[in-house]
Amino acid sequence: MALYEKPSMDKLIEDLKILKEKVYKGGGEEKINFQHGKGKLTARERLNQLFDEGKFNEILTFATTRATEFGLDKNRFYGDGVIAGWGKIDGRQVFAYAQDFTILGGSLGETHANKIVRAYELALKVGAPVIGINDSGGARIQEGALSLEGYGAVFKMNVMASGVIPQITIMAGPAAGGAVYSPALTDFLIMIKGDAYYMFVTGPEITKVSIGEEVSYQNLGGAIIHATKSGVVHFVAENEQDAINITKRLLSYLPSNNMEEPPYVDTGDPADRAVQSAESIVPTDSVKPFDIRDLIYNIVDNSEFLEVHKLWAQNITVGFGRLNGNVVGIVANNSAYYGGAIDIDAADKAARFIRFCDAFNIPVISLVDTPGYVPGTDQEYKGIIRHGAKMLYAFAEATVPKITVIVRRSYGGAHIAMSIKSLGADLVYAWPSAEIAVTGPEGAVRILYRREIQSAQNPEELLKQKITEYKKLFANPYWAAEKGLIDDVIEPKDTRKVIARGLEMLRNKREFRYPKKHGNIPL
Ligand code: HXC
Repeated sequence: MALYEKPSMDKLIEDLKILKEKVYKGGGEEKINFQHGKGKLTARERLNQLFDEGKFNEILTFATTRATEFGLDKNRFYGDGVIAGWGKIDGRQVFAYAQDFTILGGSLGETHANKIVRAYELALKVGAPVIGINDSGGARIQEGALSLEGYGAVFKMNVMASGVIPQITIMAGPAAGGAVYSPALTDFLIMIKGDAYYMFVTGPEITKVSIGEEVSYQNLGGAIIHATKSGVVHFVAENEQDAINITKRLLSYLPSNNMEEPPYVDTGDPADRAVQSAESIVPTDSVKPFDIRDLIYNIVDNSEFLEVHKLWAQNITVGFGRLNGNVVGIVANNSAYYGGAIDIDAADKAARFIRFCDAFNIPVISLVDTPGYVPGTDQEYKGIIRHGAKMLYAFAEATVPKITVIVRRSYGGAHIAMSIKSLGADLVYAWPSAEIAVTGPEGAVRILYRREIQSAQNPEELLKQKITEYKKLFANPYWAAEKGLIDDVIEPKDTRKVIARGLEMLRNKREFRYPKKHGNIPL
């Protein structure tokens, strides 16, 4: 028997190149064409677009499944249907994994899951964000319980990483069953529009069989549905490239981890610039709606504002901008939708955003114009009490700098929920147009003077008179300001300057909490 003779280095390198070529081909030409035919890019093409050119480094390149059942021993692929690694995005270190639908439908088995977990472990050690590009048929059926165990491991990493490193998911294919939960456990979900992209716990076929409801894939779990109705999706991408662009833009506002400050950018916009248009944007007549985003765009540096959850719960606007170059999170009532009243979805949206900002050292600015929480059986039955409580919890819990500017109405529980002094706001300002009270004038007067109005000779006249008295007292910021609840009443044009100065003062803010395992936010 001839002894094994090790080939020359040249031959070994040549073999390696052939193997790598095979790795880069994923599931092969035919499957790649099929992927392209659906309008989708391959996992490698997506990573190439995401990372700075030539800066992506792969881990566990050759890892493959150990399973042999259902012919997997003859149908195994290097990489096991997911590419994982790290690289530079706009010069900053970021980890990513991209599921490769051309290999076993991007399905997740033991090794596939392990690769994602290993990437997360490294990302956590070095404090870098993780981006997951999901395109998968879900749990790999051939690997049975090992696949489910794999999902468990990924979910656990999502949770371990939560609040430590930012996590972003791009939904770039299907996600069904429990596979939807890793994206849901991350901080931001960007979903691409189109037939090839959908996510749901139970698909249309089973929905039809089990409850008799007929619905299309897109109407059940397309990007628009999740961005407008369920609130699962934070950003809708027009196409694959747009999803990458949104990811990069989002990253530009985020620190790499919870021990870092968010990235400063010299925007060239003077901190004390007057917001000249402020007065004309906000009508003093409190029943006239306006779009708070018009004000936000005028306050932030160079009108650059990245709105989160733009299409969901539009009665509250949240998003990232910069003030004097420093990143801020903005939470603002938008009277253009439901008069700016806070409902269940708005409270959930705001609470989650505030908690993200707090976890990642991003100060929160509240712009207040709300008549209160939404009344009625629909909201009460669905639990506006526990959902509304989330906003209170999130603001009270947050230790980042918090500045509130009351631009118009600030009533009742919603006044508190938008962050006031006693809840922990560091600075509270009001415009002269502010109205601050427990409830609106008519409701208040009808309660306070019910008997008098009932027995009056002219009830309508008395009602009017009492409303006028009430408005005089509370439909302004001065009553509250006199009581020490407002730091200053400011001219609208000074809003940017005042916030910027407050943020500068609060830069080294330290605030401590009792040690505890964790709090218990209402759900
Ligand atoms: C193994 C899978 C797979 C899976 C797809 N494939 N999903 N292999 N396990 N889960 C394979 C297909 O057999 C096929 O292989 C290739 O991937 C491409 O799939 P197609 O069906 O040809 O693609 P398409 O027509 O685009 O349909 C995509 C799809 C469909 C809608 C995702 O494949 C599908 O319904 N897959 C099963 C989905 C599912 O039930 N997953 C489990 C969900 S439950 P070949 O060799 O023919 O190319 C779940 C639980 C997670 O995930 C629990 C976590 C707690």
